[in-house]
Amino acid sequence: MSAAQDNLILAAQVGRVLTLTLNRPQALNALNTALLLELAQQLATAEQNDSIGAVVITGSQKAFAAGADVKEMAQMNAVDLHRDPRVQAWADIARFSKPIIAAVNGFCLGGGCELAMCADYIIAGHNASFGQPEVKLGIMPGAGGTQRLMRLVGPAKAKQMALTGATLSAKQALQAGLVAEVCPAEATLDKAQAQAQQIASYAPIAVAAIKDCCNKALDVELNQGLQYERRSYCVVSSSEDRNEGIDAFLNKRKPTYQNR
Ligand code: CAA
Repeated sequence: MSAAQDNLILAAQVGRVLTLTLNRPQALNALNTALLLELAQQLATAEQNDSIGAVVITGSQKAFAAGADVKEMAQMNAVDLHRDPRVQAWADIARFSKPIIAAVNGFCLGGGCELAMCADYIIAGHNASFGQPEVKLGIMPGAGGTQRLMRLVGPAKAKQMALTGATLSAKQALQAGLVAEVCPAEATLDKAQAQAQQIASYAPIAVAAIKDCCNKALDVELNQGLQYERRSYCVVSSSEDRNEGIDAFLNKRKPTYQNR
């Protein structure tokens, strides 16, 4: 059965925000290949759709996602892993150019935590727990966990999490810098969607450039990053939307952006 028939991802657009809900409740949203490919496909479609300005990825109250699908993993040999189509899907998700907010309640483990870290930031419910428990299964994070954790929470916390498999509560994740904000679990999705609507109301060219420059900061040293930012700033400043934004401010009116 195909991913589309399974409805592994529920997609709903309100205003300029697309919400993608992981939908394998019987497996705590474990990320099997079909689900991950469907998620990447949804984002590829959203990338081309000018009516979408930002995306929220969420799961259920019990689980954002409890990791890669261990049952599926158990069937894969080294050749399967070498040809694994999920590698491309992960890369496509990470290079999506529009902002993504992860609205996380419940378990956010292994590949689930790696997916949440692919978002631009995480809003977590009080009941959320974050971890990279792969070491407990005799394996290791394989979708960016070690690299992104090191950048988000620093070496001490990252190594403690990945080497012990211990989970962080939402409060601990906030203190560690893994999540941007913690709220009551029932408010997580609304909050993420409201912030996504706010972001999506801004000029798309500026928003995409800000995301791109922030991501660049993780890859390059400061001077290269500053040059990259300056070039991006000049490009954004040559957009029609820049003129519109400044004119609207000066004339005390709401801007109307054209993505030009
Ligand atoms: N893969 C496949 N199925 C999973 C799953 C996973 N990662 N996590 C949970 N499930 C399934 C369970 O097998 C169970 O299904 P059955 O009823 O058919 O047995 C169902 O979801 C409910 O799970 P539990 O009964 O275990 O629920 P719980 O509330 O008692 O425990 C939990 C929740 C602590 C999250 C526990 O399910 C658990 O430890 N899950 C595995 C977490 C994990 O190790 N994740 C890392 C996976 S490896 C990875 O992600 C690699 C990578 O870097 C890409």
